[in-house]
Amino acid sequence: MTTHSMIDPRTASATIDTDALRHNIDAIAHHVAPAQVMAVVKADGYGHGAVTCARVAREAGAPWLGIATIGEALVLREAGDTGPILSWLHGPEEDYEPAVADGIDVTAGTVDQLSSALMAAAACEKTARVQLELDSGMRRAGSDPAEWDHLCRAALECEQTGAVKITGIWSHLATADEPDHPATQKQADAFADAVAHARSVGLEPEIVHLANSAAALGHPELHHDAVRLGIAMYGIDPGDGCATRAGVELLPAMRLRAQLAAVRHVNEGDGVSYGHSWIAPHDTTLGLVPLGYADGILRAASGRVKVRVGNRTVPIVGRVCMDQFMIDLGPDAPDAVGDEVTLFGAVDGPRAEDWAEGCDTIGYEIVSRIGGRVPRVLEDGDE
Ligand SMILES: Cc1ncc(COP(=O)(O)O)c(C=O)c1O
Repeated sequence: MTTHSMIDPRTASATIDTDALRHNIDAIAHHVAPAQVMAVVKADGYGHGAVTCARVAREAGAPWLGIATIGEALVLREAGDTGPILSWLHGPEEDYEPAVADGIDVTAGTVDQLSSALMAAAACEKTARVQLELDSGMRRAGSDPAEWDHLCRAALECEQTGAVKITGIWSHLATADEPDHPATQKQADAFADAVAHARSVGLEPEIVHLANSAAALGHPELHHDAVRLGIAMYGIDPGDGCATRAGVELLPAMRLRAQLAAVRHVNEGDGVSYGHSWIAPHDTTLGLVPLGYADGILRAASGRVKVRVGNRTVPIVGRVCMDQFMIDLGPDAPDAVGDEVTLFGAVDGPRAEDWAEGCDTIGYEIVSRIGGRVPRVLEDGDE
């Protein structure tokens, strides 16, 4: 099934392996039990398709979905999801009413955000489900610990009106992918203190959660009631060997592939692509791959990343263009127009992690940047 068609799915596509998604969710659910899984499907499911990933996560037993914006959460409701969803990124003038009306949990890290939830509850005559966010040390969002007591007491007052229910307390870790980083323990302690304080004030959250994928895999002591599972669900290791150390096998859920759109011979000394930044060092054969930086192929990949053609890996050469790039198939290459190229996500590599290493970034950026022009094609045993 395809959801986009600006590129013919035969020409290029991101195949989404729903069995791999299921496998990854199952493996981590077992690893973190009895903590629950909150499957994070923001940014269109890290590029894999939010609606598909949400459906698969529910089928795999994830009680919660996590998402950044209210608009993203509403898309899941429109697609038929009726379960618990937490949204956590709200703008200063954001209207919380559609979320409250649809039973979507919103996040409050400030008294202003709490007020927005209260107003939304009054407008739609429903109880707003609100989770309080502490900034335990990420310094990105959430309540400063110095403001926490004030926020908790304001939340309790709201609860007593019946218009708001504080359903959760959470925070986000900055360094969980680095096993021995001292900031993680500091954040864990600040969070534990804040949760204890909220309870002493009289709040009774349904769930308390702190862990992302890296902490789900590597910090069992931080699992609390739920882990917010993002990148590992998509089969990408959140850090250098986190999954291996935890004994969890992750399978890549996205395979980015294309057909060779052209094959041409070049002579030693011929310049290739914009700026002729690559000059053929010998006579060789170039293959044209019909995806470019407008599709999320990082320009930094030029000369630094390899792709798979048949049973060989061959380098990207010359500058990546907006819609296409070239690969060096080598002299006497057997390849022909229409042959399959796997950019990443095949079992035998390359993986998104290899692209990340070559482009000096993280696997998150490699998959979530794959653009809307690239058709997502579902691939599993029962589609
Ligand atoms: C608040 C929050 N929780 C959880 C996650 C999931 O993190 P990861 O993809 O590292 O599992 C994210 C993603 O960045 C996030 O912003």
